[in-house]
Amino acid sequence: SDVYKRQVFMIIGALHEKNNTEKRILLSLETVKKLSKEKLSILIVKGYGLNSNISDQELIDSGVTIETEENILKKSDVILKISLEEGEIEVLKNGANIVLNSFDKKNLEILKNLKSKNINIFSLDFLPRITRAQSMDILSSQANLAGYRSVIDSSYEFNKAVPMMMTAAGTVTPAKFFIIGAGVAGLQAIATAKRLGGVVSATDVRLASKEQVESLGGKFVFVEDMENLETAGGYAKEASEDFKKKQEELIKETVKKQDIIICTALIPGKKAPRIITEEMVLSMKPGSIICDLAAAQGGNSAFSEPDKVVDKNGIKIIAVSYTHLTLPTTPYV
Ligand code: NAI
Repeated sequence: SDVYKRQVFMIIGALHEKNNTEKRILLSLETVKKLSKEKLSILIVKGYGLNSNISDQELIDSGVTIETEENILKKSDVILKISLEEGEIEVLKNGANIVLNSFDKKNLEILKNLKSKNINIFSLDFLPRITRAQSMDILSSQANLAGYRSVIDSSYEFNKAVPMMMTAAGTVTPAKFFIIGAGVAGLQAIATAKRLGGVVSATDVRLASKEQVESLGGKFVFVEDMENLETAGGYAKEASEDFKKKQEELIKETVKKQDIIICTALIPGKKAPRIITEEMVLSMKPGSIICDLAAAQGGNSAFSEPDKVVDKNGIKIIAVSYTHLTLPTTPYV
C-alpha cells in the first residue's frame, strides 16, 4: 500500500480487544481525521469501529489503512488499545510505544519482557488527576457515564415508576435512591436520579461532598461529628474502626427504607470498603435494587459479583461494568 511509500514519521496502529465484553475503542472518527492531517500512517483492523457505529469505509475515507492484527503489532511505532493482552508484547517491534486506557496489575508479569525490547507503556488511568492534565482524565469521563447509566439500568430493573405520579386513581410515591460515595460517579448518579424524579439521599466520608450533594438537590446523610476522611489530594482515606461502626449503624437504618441504592465508594489503591452487609441487603423490600459500581474492586455490597445480576429474596444486586458494555459510542468532544 502507498501508506508505506509516503513519507511518514510514525505509524499508529489501533486494535480491538480480544475480550468480547470490551466494546470501547481508542480512536474515534474525529481523532482519525485530526491525526491523518499529520505525517502519520494509521493502521486499524477490519471492523475496528463497528461497536461504535463507525464503518470501515468511513475510516478509510478519513485516511486509515486496514491491516491484519499481526502486521499492526509488528509495524506500529504507537499501538492504541484499551488494555494489554497476552502475546502482544512479543510481536511488537523494538522501541514501540503502547497507549492504553487501563493497565491491569496482572500485566506486571508481562512487563518483565519489556526492558529488553525497549518498549514504553503509557496507561491513561495512571495520569495524575490534576488541573493541568484534565483534558486527558479518562477516569472522570468513564465514572461520569457509569454514574448515569447505573441509575438508568436500576430504574429499568425496578418494577415501579420512579417519579411521583398523581392520578384520579391514586398517587404513586417517588422512588427513594441512596447513593453511597459522592465522587464523580456518585454525583452524576444523584443528578440523574433527580432528573428522573426520584427522592435522593447520599453519603460520603469527605465533608466537602456535603455541599456538592446538596447543590444537586440530594440530602446528605452522615455520621454526626464525623472526622473528615479526605486526603490532601482530595481522595478518601480508610476509616477508623470507630467510624466504621458508627457508619454501619447509620447505613443500616437508611438502607432498609430505600428502593434503589447505587454504590460508588472507592479508596485509591485499596480494596473497596464493604459498606452494605448481607443483613442490610436482606432488610430491603423485595423488588429493591442495589447497583454496585465498585464490584470490580471488591464491591461495596454483599452478594455483588462482577458483571452479574444476583437475585437475593427478590432484591437485585447489579454489578455490570457500564462503560465497557453499554456506552462505547459516547464521544467526549
Ligand atoms: P473515587 O472514585 O476514588 O471514590 C468515590 C467516592 O467514594 C469518593 O467521593 C470517596 O470519598 C467515597 N468513599 C470512599 N470510601 C467511602 C466510604 N467508606 N463511605 C462513603 N463514601 C466513601 O472518587 P472520585 O470520583 O475519583 O472523586 C474523588 C475526589 O477527586 C473528589 O474530590 C473529586 O472532586 C476529585 N476529582 C478531581 C479531579 C481533577 O482535579 N481533575 C477529577 C476527578 C475527581
